[in-house]
Amino acid sequence: MEAVKIKDNIYWVGVIDWNIRNFHGYLTQRGATYNAYLVIDEKVTLIDTAKKGFEGELLSRIKSVIDPAEIDYIIVNHVERDHSSALPAVLAACPKAKVITNAQGDKGLHQHYTGEWDTELVKSGDTLSLGQYELTFVQTPMVHWPDNMVTYLAKEKILFPNDAFGQHYAASARFDEEVPFDTLMQEAGKYYANIVLPFGKQVQKALEAVGGLDIEYICPSHGLIWGKHIPAILEAYQKWSTNTVMEKAVVVYDSMWGVTEKMAATISDAFMAKGIPVKRMSLKADHISDVMAEILEAKYIAIGSPTLNNGIMPTVGSLLTYIKGLNPTGRIGLGFGSYGWSGQSPGIITDFMKEMKWETIEMARIQYEASEEDLEALKEKIIAIL
Ligand code: FEO
Repeated sequence: MEAVKIKDNIYWVGVIDWNIRNFHGYLTQRGATYNAYLVIDEKVTLIDTAKKGFEGELLSRIKSVIDPAEIDYIIVNHVERDHSSALPAVLAACPKAKVITNAQGDKGLHQHYTGEWDTELVKSGDTLSLGQYELTFVQTPMVHWPDNMVTYLAKEKILFPNDAFGQHYAASARFDEEVPFDTLMQEAGKYYANIVLPFGKQVQKALEAVGGLDIEYICPSHGLIWGKHIPAILEAYQKWSTNTVMEKAVVVYDSMWGVTEKMAATISDAFMAKGIPVKRMSLKADHISDVMAEILEAKYIAIGSPTLNNGIMPTVGSLLTYIKGLNPTGRIGLGFGSYGWSGQSPGIITDFMKEMKWETIEMARIQYEASEEDLEALKEKIIAIL
């Protein structure tokens, strides 16, 4: 397998995981890549590795440029296994390689893997001379783990930010301008919503840290390399990391006998009647990671469940758990649902929204079957509140 040249002496040598569809619970319908980069200089340097099982592909791409035994440094920007679990196999093929990482990264590597290897610790602002090139390191803790850092190659104006700016998008193309822009941004947004969203403050700090850098390419550890569309992704990260929302509603629900679904349709109609764009999503059809992608920029979030055994449907419980972990803030919520006799579900959902410190619209519930009058009254009530 072949490396892909980014600039003279700089290559993408990562792997393409065409078949992955579940990345720790995230539906990766376009697959994923685990990107690694090779810098050829007096000191040959590999930036990140890949997921265990893909070491053959990674080493094969490296071999298309240079004998892996020539590698002097392996930079570990992040220990999560999608980027480091191939490291033991790669180290076996690179006998003189020294691992360059920060203190948290070093601790994490030794907690994940057995064996011995040489390590040089770096911290924010440290540099590493490779010959004609110099690498600069900036720690970006919690984007996405405590160990994360970014590596900057000033002479070639290339930033290697690991997880930041990634997308789960398997493609034979390597550069942003080679794929449809809308698809690229959709995947970047889905990735942000499902991976990075809880760490907005840390992303803001990272954006500040890299804000003054002259950047021609952003080479993330997942997906396409940013070149032409760097302004677009930086602007999007600025917006997403500050939880900036737009006039948009997500109406998401599950239903037992169709009444909560009728309510979802009616609530969607009410938003549309007020000129607010709506995305209506059934948890029977849509994955929670796709719901999160829609929630990313939505001001209004309506969540519906019928009452089941004095509670909510497990699919809705799963969604609430997922939303809680990802912590979208500053939203306006509406809990709704049908019921037979006890009717707790809209209240449970509304309580959840209050715990999230969202504003809430008065909850809506309908007993047994919804008449046309019930639905019309619901629509008028929502319109009056919006
Ligand atoms: Fe792509 Fe946090 O690992």
